Amino acid sequence: MSSGRPLIRPVIEAIEPYRPGKPLEAVRREFGLTDVIKLASNECPLGPFPAALAAIDGCTTELNRYPDGAVQRLQAALAVRHGVDTDQICAGSGADGCIDMLSQAVLDPGDEIICGWPSFPSYAIYAAKQGALAIKVALNEEGRHDFDAMRAAIGPRTKLLYVCHPNNPTGTMDTAAELDALLDAVPADVLTVIDQAYFEYVDHPDYPDGVERYVKAGRRVLVLRTFSKIYGLAGLRVGYAIGPREVCASMVKLRRPFDISSPAQAAAVASLDDPGELSRRRALNSAGRVELEGILRASGLEPVAGAVGNFVMVPTLAPTDELFEALLRQGVIVRPLHGFGAPSAIRITVGTPQELTALAEALARVLGS
Ligand SMILES: Cc1ncc(COP(=O)(O)O)c(C=O)c1O
Repeated sequence: MSSGRPLIRPVIEAIEPYRPGKPLEAVRREFGLTDVIKLASNECPLGPFPAALAAIDGCTTELNRYPDGAVQRLQAALAVRHGVDTDQICAGSGADGCIDMLSQAVLDPGDEIICGWPSFPSYAIYAAKQGALAIKVALNEEGRHDFDAMRAAIGPRTKLLYVCHPNNPTGTMDTAAELDALLDAVPADVLTVIDQAYFEYVDHPDYPDGVERYVKAGRRVLVLRTFSKIYGLAGLRVGYAIGPREVCASMVKLRRPFDISSPAQAAAVASLDDPGELSRRRALNSAGRVELEGILRASGLEPVAGAVGNFVMVPTLAPTDELFEALLRQGVIVRPLHGFGAPSAIRITVGTPQELTALAEALARVLGS
């Protein structure tokens, strides 16, 4: 006899799942196209670093073995790179895996997190998994965080305050002085999470390195970084958190034993020793972003100003889904932003010069007609 008790937890039933960008293969198949470009998921169009590819090759004969569950080599290399102790680091299956572990470690049902909105949806989704509540604070008119409003939203159940930096999807940043003032005002029992997934792309004098400025100064801050973006390893799933020892220790306990595959660990370690490639990519991206913004303006679209990462957000004039579909038919995948809280906008990743030319031609065909 049934007790009528639901099998699935009600908080899980209520979750609106993350919808990833459309994969290349799906668009090729659906539209019968051969030439398709993906500017939808803020991936690096240049692929992995050469040393990372070699490291992945070097792993293939050991793929019958489980990966190092303690992620020792990578966490040690990251500790050296950042000048912190290894127990201030927790590697995860992407920065996303870190947000999930952190949410499990910190949030009880009824607890609250605060984040800007529109922003990266995982903060709210992983909070919801714990039965916690996301207070989404509207960005200001510049598409930047409204730190006064975020501070005002802090209540007795607030445990985490997320600063997505640069903010995905607007691409905007807050200055070091603004973040300093925010951190001075956040109560000691709230952990501020500075998500710097796009850190390596940013070339702006007022953009703070969260590890140098806050973690090393002993502030109650957890910084997130990833190998998915400038390092071009999104498909391998590896990222990390740096912050207070007690937080990292709790996250390490929650990491599933073999979450980070051997190729992911080896490729991440190998990626750390090529500062020349890193600055080459940063410079290419900065030039590409300027070109992308120019292409959009020439097409009558106005991207959100002040983007510092490898993507821009563009409010759409035509209904967003129509523009998205029309570009798909032209073989260009961009990102509609319903799930990010911006239903009337799309997000476009900086592509290679060839990809940007293809985008310009597609926009001319779609918006010119
Ligand atoms: C702001 C932000 N944080 C975290 C992530 C997750 O990155 P990953 O899990 O691939 O490291 C992304 C991915 O797009 C992002 O935009």
